[in-house]
Amino acid sequence: MAVAGGSTVSDQTEAAQPHWSSRFAFVMAAIGSAVGLGNLWRFPAEAGANGGGAFVVFYIFCVVLIGLPLLLSETLIGRHGGSSAVESAKTVARDSGVSTGWSALAGVGVLGAFFILSFYSVVAGWVLYYVGVFAGDLVGALGGNLAGGAFAGQDQAAIEALLPALFADPVMLVSLHALFMAVTLFFVARGVSSGIEVVAVWLMPTFFALFLGITVYGAFTGAFAEAVDFLFAFNPERLLHPDVMLSALGQAFFSLSLGSALMITYGAYAGRDTNLAQSSLIIGGADTAVAILAGLCIFPIVFAAGLDAAAGPALMFVSLPVAFQAMPFGSLIGLLFFLMVGFAALTSSVALLEAPSSWLMHRFRVSRGRAAILVAGAAFVAGIFSALGYNLLADVRPLAWWPSFARLDILDSIDTVTGKILLPLSGLLTAIFIGWIADRRLIDAENGLSGGTQLLWRFLVAWLCPIVLTAILVLGIFPGLIG
Ligand code: PFF
Repeated sequence: MAVAGGSTVSDQTEAAQPHWSSRFAFVMAAIGSAVGLGNLWRFPAEAGANGGGAFVVFYIFCVVLIGLPLLLSETLIGRHGGSSAVESAKTVARDSGVSTGWSALAGVGVLGAFFILSFYSVVAGWVLYYVGVFAGDLVGALGGNLAGGAFAGQDQAAIEALLPALFADPVMLVSLHALFMAVTLFFVARGVSSGIEVVAVWLMPTFFALFLGITVYGAFTGAFAEAVDFLFAFNPERLLHPDVMLSALGQAFFSLSLGSALMITYGAYAGRDTNLAQSSLIIGGADTAVAILAGLCIFPIVFAAGLDAAAGPALMFVSLPVAFQAMPFGSLIGLLFFLMVGFAALTSSVALLEAPSSWLMHRFRVSRGRAAILVAGAAFVAGIFSALGYNLLADVRPLAWWPSFARLDILDSIDTVTGKILLPLSGLLTAIFIGWIADRRLIDAENGLSGGTQLLWRFLVAWLCPIVLTAILVLGIFPGLIG
């Protein structure tokens, strides 16, 4: 970590022209942003709720043919502009001789990042809670039988009651949300190279080590074959279902941190020597590998314990703790698992706070610290509503007027509107802008592609992305259209 005394000076210089200290740092920070609750909590939940195989197949289609081309588009806008996401998009528009109104693509993204941050920190608060629960359990187990499962002497009903008990406690929920937001703020306020990068470079390798360990352990002790079958069994009747397609598309955007101004913001800190095409491949590949492996980590444990794969968001917070009860060294594995999830969540929340803060810094010329405090404070307040949606505001259905989403609580409504609408919308605008509007020479000079790959990328961005994104957005939002 860098010196505290120097932070004011470095903050000021960073506000002018911050940079990653190396290409490795850029790739780690971007992977850190991409790999998070989206992979570990949301992907298995969505895959489970949408019937497994069909969802996974379409998810991979979205990542490869839409996600990767857009990842490159976003990072190149950032690197060319070298400023906040909105300013960078304006610079590309200006240098292309077109209206700076195209920066709306990043404006929509900033808004999306803000709202995701608000509920992301609430869910990360649940993770902190389970870190505490398992740490307490481990301490208890140290005096007794460490090799046994977690929660010795408790029955399944008591473990299943943990999450409802947490949800019923608004003070606890909001306090954990505040704690997580404060930690996120701490690192963002320290700046790009001495805060954001430090978290990524230290926590991501730790994450990967823990993650691989637990996955291998689950593969040997759990119902691995059943999990593989569930995740990859092809069920064509669900494949082209608009619900499944919209969910898979939304998940791909969420997971790759696309459409949220973030990859533009992080791209702006990348040096000219960074090969953006190569980096995008590494980032997208690592993120997808973690999502699939998360499925292969969680479902064997869930199936071995005879639990329901379609438990949705409760999968990680209810099914897994129950499963850890039956596992050798359950307390230790449980603690390591939730610590790992916490690390992944932190590198993502840092990114979620950075994108809107960077916009505020450049737009209103405020210092990094002030901008980060303002955004974190506002997202904290917005997040309180998501937290209270589980208790005091449990009857509130913000989208009651919208048939497809009428039953969703506050947190799920914000998650749905951002993931399924705002992010893909920002992606659609980006595809049109890069594919049709922006100056071709400028783009070719940034993207590090040539020959056939250049042509392929251009085709995907200009044709496939706009067509598929428009179709899925329209069909997903108005499912009645196809009867
Ligand atoms: N990609 C993160 C995850 O999968 O958890 C979530 C996220 C982070 C979305 C940063 C958007 C973003 F800008």
